[in-house]
Amino acid sequence: MNKAIVLTGITTTGTPHLGNYVGAIRPAIAASKDANVAPFYFLADYHALIKCQEPEKIRKSSREIAATWLALGLDTSNTVFYRQSDVPEIMELAWMLCCVTAKGLMNRAHAYKSAVAENEQDGEHDPDKGISMGLFSYPILMAADILMFNASKVPVGKDQIQHIEMARDIAGRFNHIYGEHFVLPEAIIEENGATLAGLDGRKMSKSYNNAIPLFESEKKLRKLINKIKTNSLEPGEPKDPNGCTLFSLYQAFASKAETDEIRRRYAEGISWGEMKQILFEYINNHIAPARERYEALMQAPAHIEEELQEGARKARAISVPFIKTLREAVGISRISL
Ligand code: TRP
Repeated sequence: MNKAIVLTGITTTGTPHLGNYVGAIRPAIAASKDANVAPFYFLADYHALIKCQEPEKIRKSSREIAATWLALGLDTSNTVFYRQSDVPEIMELAWMLCCVTAKGLMNRAHAYKSAVAENEQDGEHDPDKGISMGLFSYPILMAADILMFNASKVPVGKDQIQHIEMARDIAGRFNHIYGEHFVLPEAIIEENGATLAGLDGRKMSKSYNNAIPLFESEKKLRKLINKIKTNSLEPGEPKDPNGCTLFSLYQAFASKAETDEIRRRYAEGISWGEMKQILFEYINNHIAPARERYEALMQAPAHIEEELQEGARKARAISVPFIKTLREAVGISRISL
């Protein structure tokens, strides 16, 4: 049986937080242990350049993300875990795809459109002010990431669905012109993850500055959990778990039975102080062993690099011959004698 190729990228511009863990990392690691799946997970460092021009930040984030995934038990014997920039064939494919992609398609990309809308709102003279070609053509690089390995399933957040549709369009266009080279990918949406709330009750996100870093020290984790916003109901007053940030965080980690028990405690009027204590202990116990492995990996980064090199070797065993076929297909090859 052919295994389903599941591929996803992580842009290397931040430190993994609890929302990333629940929404993307945890399910991806579970899939890495599924013998029916062939996962490809990569650090999207060329994507990072679109949003970040601070080299040290990108380096730090790449290291933290790789260490996080390894510490959480990613099965690298069943997974190709690599850094995008270690597979230069992806960039080469991106150019081939650029040349079959209508500019009009990119004009419709949400990320680009919202940047233009912001300029217009600000009364800017030039609607494209501050928008790089990297941002504009970013869905094409994403298509190259996916099509290089002929992934059929791409787990992403809701904001990325349009990009997977664009990858399908681009693949279809290339196939139409040059023959059937690419599988048309499909987005897989992880429902729970998108709604994990942050410190202020809005979706946990780096850009809202409301995130709880996954491997924060025990002390800081406690501090952040204590900062989570609640309403002013007193101990003893019944409380509604629906829409409660503390409850939704607890639910994201605990079993169904444990969650039901806490629901009962809410009805009984558990105090916010006690709930925060319970939540802290639960999350802390859950992540403590991985946090220890994470710290060890960050102390000995050579091991992280070895894993990434091994991943790049496996990825290039596919990308090198494939790009050769694609070059031939588009008419780029040596002159035959
Ligand atoms: N753009 C994606 C994000 O911001 C990350 C990414 C880059 C990606 N290349 C990809 C995801 C390919 C899936 C497939 O979340």
